[in-house]
Amino acid sequence: MLVVGAGQMGRGIAQVCLEADCRVALADTQPGSLARARDELMTGASSVASRLRTVNWPSAEPLQARIAIEAGPEDFAIKAEIFCELDRLLGEEAWLASNTSSISITALAANVRAPERVLGLHFMNPVPKMRLVEIIRGLQTSDAAIAAGRALTDKLAKVSVLTKDAPAFLVNRMLVPLVLEAFFLLEQGQATPEDIDTAVKLGLNHPMGPLTLADFVGLDTLLAISEVLMRDLGDDKYRAPVLLRHYVSAGWLGRKAGRGVYRYDAQGKQVRT
Ligand SMILES: NC(=O)c1ccc[n+]([C@@H]2O[C@H](COP(=O)([O-])OP(=O)(O)OC[C@H]3O[C@@H](n4cnc5c(N)ncnc54)[C@H](O)[C@@H]3O)[C@@H](O)[C@H]2O)c1
Repeated sequence: MLVVGAGQMGRGIAQVCLEADCRVALADTQPGSLARARDELMTGASSVASRLRTVNWPSAEPLQARIAIEAGPEDFAIKAEIFCELDRLLGEEAWLASNTSSISITALAANVRAPERVLGLHFMNPVPKMRLVEIIRGLQTSDAAIAAGRALTDKLAKVSVLTKDAPAFLVNRMLVPLVLEAFFLLEQGQATPEDIDTAVKLGLNHPMGPLTLADFVGLDTLLAISEVLMRDLGDDKYRAPVLLRHYVSAGWLGRKAGRGVYRYDAQGKQVRT
C-alpha cells in the first residue's frame, strides 16, 4: 500500500492500513509532514516499525504497491501531477485511488495510461474512528477496480457506499451547504460561533457543530470543496462566504494551523478564549 500525502487524512489512512497488518509506504513532499506522521504512527503496535516506510515525494526510486491512495491537497493540478507520477512509478498493475473530497475521479483518471484502474476512496475524518468510506466510480472505472476498493474497505472493517462521480459525491454534497450556511450566520453576526455550534449539536443531534467541524476538516479544504461545487454545479447555494475566504487568506486554516474559527493548543485541543 502506498499513501501519497502525509497530512491528517494520509496519516489516518496509513494508521488503519497498518492496524489491518498491511505494509505501508507513506509519501509526502514535506519532510516535516513525514516526521510528524512517523512519530504519530510509531506510537501504535510494535510491529509497525517493520511495516511502515516513509518516502520523499516524488520518489526517485521505483515503488511497489498493489494499491495507491492519493491524499494530497484538495487541488486538481497537484492531484493530477501525483497521478502522473503514480502511473510512472507503479506500472499498470496497481489500483490508483484518490481520497479527494470533491474533485472528479473521471478527470483524475484521464492522467494515467489505464484509467479503468482509477477509483475514489473517500475516507472520513478522523479515519480510525469514522466507519464510512465512499467508493466513487469514475466514467472509466472498471468493475474490478470497484471490487478491489470494496475488498480493501472490508479488510479495514469500514462500511462502504458506492456513488457515481459527481462534484463532492454524497457526504460533502449534503454537508458543505450546511457548513457554509453556518459561516454566513457568523459573518452576518447573527450569533456567536459557540451558539451556532450548540444550535446544531443540540437542535439537530449532530455530534459536532458545523464551525467546529469546519476547523477540523481544514478551512482551505472546505473552501476548495465549495469552489468545485460552485463551478461544476453552477448553483449559488455553494458560494463561499467572504469570511471563509478571509480566514484562509490569513492562514487561519483550522485545527491543523492552531487557529480557525476557534483557537487550538499544540495537541489540537480547542482553547477557550
Ligand atoms: N480534512 C478532512 O476532513 C478530509 C476528509 C476527507 C477527505 N479529505 C481529503 O483528503 C485530502 C487531504 O486532506 P488533508 O486534510 O489530509 O490535508 P492536509 O493539508 O492535512 O495534508 C495534505 C498533505 O499533502 C502534502 N502535499 C502537498 N503537496 C504535495 C504533493 N505535490 N505531493 C504529495 N504530497 C503533497 C502536504 O505536505 C500535506 O502533508 C484532500 O483531498 C481532502 O479533500 C479531507
